[in-house]
Amino acid sequence: MSFSLGNIFKQVQSLAPKSETSLLGIDIGASSVKIVQLRASRGIAVLETYGEISLGPYGNQPIGKSVKLTPEKTAEAITDLMKEANITSRTGGLSIPFSGSLVSVLDLPNVDEEQLKRIVPIEARKYIPVPVSEVSLDWFIIPKEEGEQSAFDQLQDKAPVRAKGQEVFLVAIHNDLLHQYQTMAATAGLTVNFFEIEIFSALRSALGHGIAPILVVDLGASTTKMYIVERGIVRLTHLLTQGGQHMTETLARTLEWDFDKAERVKRERGLIDSTAYSVDENDRIKTALLSTLTRVFSEVNRVLLSYGQRYNKNVAHVVLTGGGASLPGLAAFAKQNLSAEVDIANPFGHTEAPAFLEGVLREIGPGFAVSVGLALRNLRHS
Ligand SMILES: Nc1ncnc2c1ncn2[C@@H]1O[C@H](COP(=O)(O)OP(=O)(O)OP(=O)(O)O)[C@@H](O)[C@H]1O
Ligand SMILES: [Mg+2]
Repeated sequence: MSFSLGNIFKQVQSLAPKSETSLLGIDIGASSVKIVQLRASRGIAVLETYGEISLGPYGNQPIGKSVKLTPEKTAEAITDLMKEANITSRTGGLSIPFSGSLVSVLDLPNVDEEQLKRIVPIEARKYIPVPVSEVSLDWFIIPKEEGEQSAFDQLQDKAPVRAKGQEVFLVAIHNDLLHQYQTMAATAGLTVNFFEIEIFSALRSALGHGIAPILVVDLGASTTKMYIVERGIVRLTHLLTQGGQHMTETLARTLEWDFDKAERVKRERGLIDSTAYSVDENDRIKTALLSTLTRVFSEVNRVLLSYGQRYNKNVAHVVLTGGGASLPGLAAFAKQNLSAEVDIANPFGHTEAPAFLEGVLREIGPGFAVSVGLALRNLRHS
């Protein structure tokens, strides 16, 4: 590779912006691109502009659908978005989807950093299903906790490995994927100063600074991502290949609507009854939406329970992010159905914005968790 990934991980840190220039956070999701432009002023991250563009129409698909586009097509969407949102900066951080990365934990002997640099690529071969030469690697040592078995696992059914030496959190990203991102960024005229796996971006903007374990659930279009963070460190990750798109598809099928209409109705009324529909229709809409949601939430409860049992700790707090977290009526449903306290993320709460925007930023905020998190890291490290 002609460039270094740099440190693609960042722990959740306090916000201490240093830069005076405007920088971007760009999240290329399965269904839409989210962009945020921040400027640091007197230690505060000032929100200059933000925007979102659906990718569906760039692949002849409806809004809300996930699409696989060429880097050039994605660049076209980003260029359109930058114009629409009056983006003036061309420099920023770009997220890498969790689904496009391989996350594992290596159990290694207690050796120093220099030796680790040699050992990790060799050990990584056991965990990565493709030749190590085809991927870019990054890692950090997971801090130990007294009496702990394994600081991390991926919700596999096998028992966690007892750590004898030190545990190293390893991420591998396929070079092809990085090349695609580079082509896309170059086509869109962007200078990417770092890539970051979306996990770490979302955590930066979705969480405060507590030490207790928290489960963050990112309700995306094609997937639902779950991360447990404790003392600022990611302890568990879990990917569910079901998301908001599945909800829309079920709604469309049940009510015999096209995808567009189902997507619109889902976003506008969600789980809340509307006078625009008959009692029977209201019931059918709700039942359709709940069929996916119930499945997703039972998986969330399974993750909570599994982590709690394994480490004998109670994960008492869940934070919902991703576009799906804006579903009207979701907070109430989540509170009833999850065995933990529930909050909807407010990523823009980390930024300073005009007061009149507060309501709308809160409403659309969850979908911007990754892009806001990227822009925040950008400011701190420039
Ligand atoms: N107000 C809303 N109510 C309900 N669902 C919504 C709302 N706004 C967006 N969504 C849904 O959120 C999903 C998109 O969320 P998000 O933008 O976080 O996904 P993505 O980043 O494109 O996808 P992924 O994370 O899977 O790569 C879509 O399924 C969309 O229908
Ligand atoms: Mg996403």
